Amino acid sequence: MALVEKRMREILRCPPPLQAIAEYILSLGGKRIRPLLVLLCSGIYPGSQAARIDIAAAAELIHTASLLHDDVVDAASLRRGRPSVNRRWGNSTSVLAGDFLFARAFSLLCTYPQALDAMAEAVAAMSEGELLQLHSHFNPDITPETYVRSIIGKTASLLAACCQCGGLVSAMPAAKIPALRDFGLHLGIAYQIIDDISDYALGHDESGKPRGNDLKHGIITLPLMHLLANPRSRGRVLELLRQKRQLAPEMLAGELRETGALAKSARAASRYIQQALGKLAVFPDTQQVRALKNLAAWLQEKCDRFSQDSGPPQHPGQPAEHPGAQPRLR
Ligand code: FPP
Ligand code: MG
Repeated sequence: MALVEKRMREILRCPPPLQAIAEYILSLGGKRIRPLLVLLCSGIYPGSQAARIDIAAAAELIHTASLLHDDVVDAASLRRGRPSVNRRWGNSTSVLAGDFLFARAFSLLCTYPQALDAMAEAVAAMSEGELLQLHSHFNPDITPETYVRSIIGKTASLLAACCQCGGLVSAMPAAKIPALRDFGLHLGIAYQIIDDISDYALGHDESGKPRGNDLKHGIITLPLMHLLANPRSRGRVLELLRQKRQLAPEMLAGELRETGALAKSARAASRYIQQALGKLAVFPDTQQVRALKNLAAWLQEKCDRFSQDSGPPQHPGQPAEHPGAQPRLR
């Protein structure tokens, strides 16, 4: 991971004023999950160290570029606990800095045609997912299938591509690569559901982002879909959405508690994590595969925390509590 960090700094070397912005972006840090996935997945079987580092760095640069654009789309003012680039330098700078990172990432990928192809596909899916979400703002009729399709696009597709590229640049038997990609895909869906729950449940001191940003902008995520599916809360939520007022999670605190919307969403995420883990069964028990399992366990801990959120307990025979849509790759 230290080598990936070094590679990102090398590749982002540029003249002012971009240099200061690039420095700022790198200093914000982040969980670096995407490069970690590339490194772990490319380490299960032997392969070139330089390729792994380049692709891991490119993955993080693509992710960061997407966040620079996303913060403009979402009018977000905080990123990783610090003022977002759009807040510090304005929307235009954030978009252009995103373009720069994006171009640098693809220069890195040019040496690895298969990875280049997989990453380009992921970026297309990210844009589609983000657009789908944008066009569903304040729409109470958004279906669970559309929600899952949107999060597969905007988040899970890149995690899936990171895992796939890891396999592609190593000596992994080709027949095993789809399983690795599916691991990333399911993990990515769970990851985004947890992020969507966090928007309701965590303050900025814990998440590094302002609480309630999705709701404020009418982005209808899984917790709100659970409220809309509940006959007792649906009317009030519909009314609030119709008014297009600036909604805040506190305004829905009662409904969130009574319906157990956060816990139900966490259990949905948990099912995706279990599916992800199932995909690892075809791999040898290496240090890297164990680390991938640990990554899934770390996400599971987050789910467990939110699953303890009040709300009615689950009874056998109760109707399915989540979209039930099976993720499909295009
Ligand atoms: C964050 O979601 C945003 C994404 C996961 C993807 C954004 C994708 C694009 C802008 C299109 C692709 C563009 C490029 C340059 C690759 P969120 O808003 O739910 O998460 P947040 O709370 O962290 O902002
Ligand atoms: Mg956002």
